[in-house]
Amino acid sequence: MNILVTGGAGYIGSHTLIELYKAGHTAVVVDNLSNSNPESLRRVAEIIGIPEIPFYKVDIRDREGLERIFAEHRFDACIHFAGLKAVGESVEKPWEYYENNIGGTLTLVDVMRRHGCKNIIFSSSATVYGDPVEIPITESCPKGQCTNPYGWTKSMLEQVLMDIQKADPEWNVVLLRYFNPVGAHPSGRIGENPNGIPNNLMPYITQVAVGKRKELGVFGNDYPTPDGTGVRDYIHVCDLAAAHVCALQAICRHCGIGIYNIGTGHGYSVLDMVKAFIRVNGVDVPYSIKPRRAGDIATCYCNPAKAKAELGWEAKYGIDDMVRDSWHWQSTNPEGY
Ligand code: NAD
Ligand code: WQD
Repeated sequence: MNILVTGGAGYIGSHTLIELYKAGHTAVVVDNLSNSNPESLRRVAEIIGIPEIPFYKVDIRDREGLERIFAEHRFDACIHFAGLKAVGESVEKPWEYYENNIGGTLTLVDVMRRHGCKNIIFSSSATVYGDPVEIPITESCPKGQCTNPYGWTKSMLEQVLMDIQKADPEWNVVLLRYFNPVGAHPSGRIGENPNGIPNNLMPYITQVAVGKRKELGVFGNDYPTPDGTGVRDYIHVCDLAAAHVCALQAICRHCGIGIYNIGTGHGYSVLDMVKAFIRVNGVDVPYSIKPRRAGDIATCYCNPAKAKAELGWEAKYGIDDMVRDSWHWQSTNPEGY
């Protein structure tokens, strides 16, 4: 299939391009580079062994820009990663988050349908469950109150896409609810490249390990979890990338709406991650306990059985692979791209 990949220069998009080409698909990337570097696409092409990945530096809010791309290519489906994703920033700039993520998706979907491309895989998030009423979380767990505008953009866009599919059954909409993506391609050539101070745990750990930051702050050790620190379902980004290729099969089967949790089903605490990182990589990660971070929940991990049963997808990488590949990327690219 020929796939439009929005946000393809970013962390998850770049890894997904590799899995797409490995499975025999082709892709065209649209990205405004607001949170990425085109060097990622050069390295993706190098890993795949092709001269270049077709790329348009276009904002998905730019209708004319998207029209030009659709005039030049025929797409079987869109994998839609483009969006702003910093939770804290979304609290300070809610308008920018709603305008970019929701406005951008509305424009994208309108241009898609005008060109007869009605298949979309959307990057959703475990954040739509809010403070989940069941653990492990299944897809039938009700959605909850998000604690920030970023989370609401995901929750609202799920609703928007489902309503569009309901009104026009020619659409196939796959909502992938990612848990906590970490790791990097085993080659060490591509990985997560956050601007400024990392918000997420793993890039913070790797930046401490490489000497860019003094110590990790562990946000709370008084949660009702085995060691008191927050528990999450960390998933290797290559496993996550592969889930998108499996999701294309659902589209081929004309699934209508498909909603899937994409995680490993295992919960690891902050200290589990830190200790695994130190053990596997043999580098120190100084840390100290800090107060809880506003909006955090104690425990979040999923039951990924539905993705296995319906998409034939399951995670292959474990915690040791995650910490090893995160470090391989960071230690060989201390300044990112
Ligand atoms: P990322 O920031 O690395 O990638 C997103 C890409 O989208 C970037 O390259 C950015 O430049 C681009 N982009 C943003 N707004 C755009 C616009 N208006 N037009 C064109 N391009 C635009 O983030 P990621 O971690 O790869 O996340 C990909 C998707 O997955 C996002 O939608 C994110 O919300 C979602 N998600 C991420 C996580 C996570 O923890 N990384 C978890 C759940 C869901
Ligand atoms: C993980 C654990 C922290 C940093 C976020 C978004 C979610 C999704 C994934 C996009 C928590 C602890 C973290 C640090 C720490 N993104 N921590 N010190 O909060 O589970 O999810 O990213 O959709 O929407 O909310 O991920 O990596 O920030 O935190 O102790 O410096 O690590 O408290 O327990 P989170 P995270």
